[in-house]
Amino acid sequence: MSESISSSTLNSVKRILTGITTSGIPHLGNYVGAIRPAIQSIHNSDDEAFFFLADYHGIIKCHDPALIHESTKAIAATWLACGLDPERVTFYRQSDVPEIAELAWILNCSCAKGLMNRAHAYKASVDINNEKTDVDPDQGITMGLFGYPVLMAADILMFDATHVPVGRDQIQHIEMARDIAGTFNHRYKPLFTMPTAVVDDDMPLLTGLDGRKMSKSYGNTIPLFGDSNPQVSAEKQMHKAIMKIVTNSQLPAEPKDPDDSTIFEIYKAFATPAEIAEMRAQFAAGIGWGDAKQALFEKINAEIAPFRERYEHLMANPKELEEILQMGAEKARRHSRKQLDKARRAIGIRPLAKLK
Ligand code: TRP
Repeated sequence: MSESISSSTLNSVKRILTGITTSGIPHLGNYVGAIRPAIQSIHNSDDEAFFFLADYHGIIKCHDPALIHESTKAIAATWLACGLDPERVTFYRQSDVPEIAELAWILNCSCAKGLMNRAHAYKASVDINNEKTDVDPDQGITMGLFGYPVLMAADILMFDATHVPVGRDQIQHIEMARDIAGTFNHRYKPLFTMPTAVVDDDMPLLTGLDGRKMSKSYGNTIPLFGDSNPQVSAEKQMHKAIMKIVTNSQLPAEPKDPDDSTIFEIYKAFATPAEIAEMRAQFAAGIGWGDAKQALFEKINAEIAPFRERYEHLMANPKELEEILQMGAEKARRHSRKQLDKARRAIGIRPLAKLK
């Protein structure tokens, strides 16, 4: 992992924190790009970890209550099924920790509006409006979208996170969290820890069925666990999606270029170096597209199949999920209650006198 911003907290404990926005159902790209590396990095270290479901971020762009609810459930079940240990990691739902939203308000008052004007996500929405005639630049833009980075700063600063693993598109938000923390610390007292964005440069984005980046918005994803369709098993759904990967029209026995193939691209994310070399040789020897897809399916399935039972169990038993999330919220609130109290005292909000 390479760090995009130098850390100011080199000698103390690492506290890793990251949020997952609850506006979709996890697919294979999410698994390879975020879920698997996050869980692995925790297993192989003594770092403290806070992973949470960012449902208040989810409602910024997704106004479908059923999807927000289903996504929260599916994301929680996915991370647990893939091996996240809720005893080891503080795993919680953002909205169960009300102190975060309270801190966000306090931070709003230490955040220059001009800083938010420069946010890429906000500017992109304004640019789209500016391309249209007779449309207000801020049309359809809510205060939620505009202030999104402040809520994210509250998520991070609340728990004194030192390391925040994120996608490249989120680096600016971590810089904003540092900026806001700096303003507060300077104005009142040095309360907040400066977070560092952690971006994995070696992590290729997974390619989707059509050869573009795998993304929910392109509709080109391979499902991780499938939808809960009792007619078609999750395994069959995955197989079906893999068989739909777009290839060129080369015939079996024709030598093929692995580096120009989505099948090979995805295979690399699941295979060992020796298996990758072997597949490369099979491409040169002219493996047929159908056989290559079958090999890819078997490779992915070998890794995912052991997680399916737990996923399906949790999806069918939301009470168990809820108990795990409540345990996480209780752990998180041990920190957040104290941190909010310190922030309030720093700004002059405290009881006028002690009552018995
Ligand atoms: N905005 C992040 C994303 O879309 C999700 C997120 C919310 C987050 N709060 C966070 C990530 C705090 C890291 C830290 O990916």
